[in-house]
Order: sequence, then structure tokens, then C-alpha cells
Amino acid sequence: NPKFAVFASGNGSNFQAIADAIGDGILQAEIVLVVSDKPQAYVIERARSMGVASFSFIPSEFDSKQLYEQMLKEKLQELGIDWIVLAGYMRLIGPVLLTAYEKRIVNIHPSVLPAFPGKDAIGQTMAAGAETAGVTVHYVDAGMDTGMIITQQSFAVLERGREEVEQQIHQIERELYPAALQQLFDQ
Ligand code: GAR
Repeated sequence: NPKFAVFASGNGSNFQAIADAIGDGILQAEIVLVVSDKPQAYVIERARSMGVASFSFIPSEFDSKQLYEQMLKEKLQELGIDWIVLAGYMRLIGPVLLTAYEKRIVNIHPSVLPAFPGKDAIGQTMAAGAETAGVTVHYVDAGMDTGMIITQQSFAVLERGREEVEQQIHQIERELYPAALQQLFDQ
């Protein structure tokens, strides 16, 4: 089975969905490590209660992105990790990890890319009065949410407010990401 790390900065609902999909046999792979750039993130709590190893670090304690990515790369390689799965990891990936994990880093983003890249994509979608909202799973490159698209799912916003749109996005994410990962790992 492919081994992967989940990188997350926050709540970890996508980590939870992926871990649940593995538990349910929907996704045949192993989450070896949860990595967070925020030691207080709730995802660390979730990992603990799921019995998944976690590791957090504080980027500002390193002199450069190159140095902390070098440290992460060594850790991942020691553990035999094949893939990096970003799930609400709110940092750009730099050349060290992009080179070590070429075509092996994926991300989920709460918009129909290329529309609304970057932070608070749902807020951007609502503020723009967009007719369509959705979710994208894509490969990660050096840009902000610019990598090759793997799969997308969209829906009509209609007259709904942010809360309802956000709920639907999270519901789509919970199913779309595990399914997309299974397809990728099968290739
Ligand atoms: C998710 O909605 C994910 O698509 C988004 O952050 C949320 C993380 O939620 N990611 C981005 O905006 C990346 N640019 P979670 O911590 O509950 O999985």
C-alpha cells in the first residue's frame, strides 16, 4: 500500500475523512504521519485519537523554508513516505519538497480553480457573487493553487448564504478527496 503524509494547518476535517475512508476500506493506503506547521492545530488532536503519528514544527524557528523543508524531507524519507497530501496546509511548498516529491504532492482547494486561488476561497466566491462554487483536487507546483487539476466538483450557489455553501463544500471534500487519492494511488 502507498504510504503518505497529510500536511494540515487547522481543523483537520479532511484528514479525518481520509482516515475514515481508510478505516472503511474505501481508500487502500497508509497515513504514516500528520505534519502540521501549527502545534496547536486541532488536526494534531484528531491524529492522536485516531492513533496516527504526528509531527509539528514552527516555521519561524528555522532560518529559511529551505531548512525546514530539508528537515521534513529527511523525516518523510526515513519513514518511507511516497506521497504528500495537503489538507488545509496554508503554506506554499518550496523547491526542496517539490523536487523530492515530484508529481507526488496533491492539494484540495475549496473553489473551482483557476477561479479564487489563495486564502479564503469560499469568502472570495461569495464576495464575487459567483454563480458556481466547488472543490478542486490538484497537483502541487510552486505557485499558489496553480498545479495541474486532477478532479473538480461544482454546484450552483443559488440564493444561499456562506454558511450553507461552506457546508456543501465540506461535504463534497469529504467524499472527493479520498476517492481522488484512491484513483491516483491505483495508477
Ligand atoms: C478545506 O476547506 C480545504 O479545502 C482548504 O482549507 C480547508 C481545511 O479544512 N484548503 C485551502 O484553502 C488551501 N488553499 P480542514 O482543516 O478541516 O481539512
